[in-house]
Amino acid sequence: MSADAVSNAKDAAVADRPEEDKTGEPLLRVEGLVKHFPVKKGLLQRQVGAVKAVDGLSFDVHPGETLGIVGESGCGKSTMGRLITRLDEPTDGRIEFQGHDITHMSAGKIRPLRRDVQMIFQDPYSSLNPRHTIGTIVGAPFKLQKVEPEGGVKKEVQRLLGLVGLSPEHYNRYPHEFSGGQRQRIGIARALALSPKLVVADEPVSALDVSIQAQVVNLLDDLQDELGLTYVIIAHDLSVIRHVSDRIAVMYLGKIVELSDRKSLYERPMHPYTKALLSAVPVPDPKRRGVKSERILLKGDVPSPISPPSGCRFHTRCWKATEVCRTVEPPLIQLEPGHEAACHHPENAPDQIPDDTKVLASAREAIALVGDAVAAGADAGKASAGEPAVGEPAVSEPAVVKPAVGEPAEAPEETSEAPKGLTKE
Ligand SMILES: Nc1ncnc2c1ncn2[C@@H]1O[C@H](COP(=O)(O)OP(=O)(O)OP(=O)(O)O)[C@@H](O)[C@H]1O
Ligand code: SF4
Ligand SMILES: [Mg+2]
Repeated sequence: MSADAVSNAKDAAVADRPEEDKTGEPLLRVEGLVKHFPVKKGLLQRQVGAVKAVDGLSFDVHPGETLGIVGESGCGKSTMGRLITRLDEPTDGRIEFQGHDITHMSAGKIRPLRRDVQMIFQDPYSSLNPRHTIGTIVGAPFKLQKVEPEGGVKKEVQRLLGLVGLSPEHYNRYPHEFSGGQRQRIGIARALALSPKLVVADEPVSALDVSIQAQVVNLLDDLQDELGLTYVIIAHDLSVIRHVSDRIAVMYLGKIVELSDRKSLYERPMHPYTKALLSAVPVPDPKRRGVKSERILLKGDVPSPISPPSGCRFHTRCWKATEVCRTVEPPLIQLEPGHEAACHHPENAPDQIPDDTKVLASAREAIALVGDAVAAGADAGKASAGEPAVGEPAVSEPAVVKPAVGEPAEAPEETSEAPKGLTKE
């Protein structure tokens, strides 16, 4: 199956999802979630501020769906992942899992939840103990939870290894004997050991080679179908997120700025930040070879989460920012069915504050409009010129070209590319 076919199948799956899944109780409900890390100074370690890593997130995750979370480095994605799996204690807000408030559940009470909610970590190299065999690593959750699977731990671990495409003979081997992709499969097997309901995957493929990324993404997709899993997948790569997600939340500086079903987000992004992120993704469409495409290059650094900008946090880098953006924080509201955005002057939607049209002088400086003669399909890697957009992934990947010079025209086109080989045949 081609990458597009995978996407279309996802759309169909969302449409076909039983009505009770779409309207019924979410598996996970997050309301006003906050995590502030104290900044301490001096001999007395007095608190002088706080890193507002996560600053008021609200979203639902429904059974069987995949929610993609995307945003630049440091915007709070991993912190959010650690909060919803209760590896970190929230500062404020509420987390409900299957209708139960788990926000501040004690370590003792949270233990059964650990079976239902599992995390896959970004770095398959550091997340596996090098001194333990694969059998010990994948079997650890059974020991921790004092669960004796039918047929014994060894048999079950070998079954899990087979499930993720490894051999049962790998049971006695050590992590250093495996490649990055194989290690990530081991991490996935460990996460699946206790048959979780929700899997939070924090950048599960960003440390892997592009061709291996596709295999792991497709494995996650297959396992979801097979085991009825629900995913929250964190990534900074919009091309990966697109191919795995039913809905996508875009984060900026600790907040969700846009939340939508995948198709609508890619076809009609409403938040300027999303538009900028999407414009950094190349379109390797052979039909468009030689056609000019445009990129929005965000200038300046991401502001500090210790003292985020007033009003809309994106106003220091947004080319549409007006006075109201500097002073009034836009709420995340539904602008179209199933499509929420937090913006006073959204793209592809009527202006929320039409009277305020005087663009801030600084806003005009905030971006460079850059273009790129698209030979992307032929050679995405060679297409790079100039500096990477600020919104681009930190990890350089051949799938994401760097911007060149030109002028953006309209909403970014449907981006159909994926990491090489992101196909399910
Ligand atoms: N334990 C901690 N103590 C203090 N600050 C922290 C801690 N963990 C994260 N932060 C800060 O919180 C902010 C969000 O970090 P987080 O790791 O969640 O971002 P991220 O979106 O996952 O970034 P990346 O894409 O680089 O993984 C950052 O400014 C980070 O420095
Ligand atoms: S137009 Fe204003 S509210 Fe919208 S993203 Fe830009 S700065 Fe924020
Ligand atoms: Mg992270």
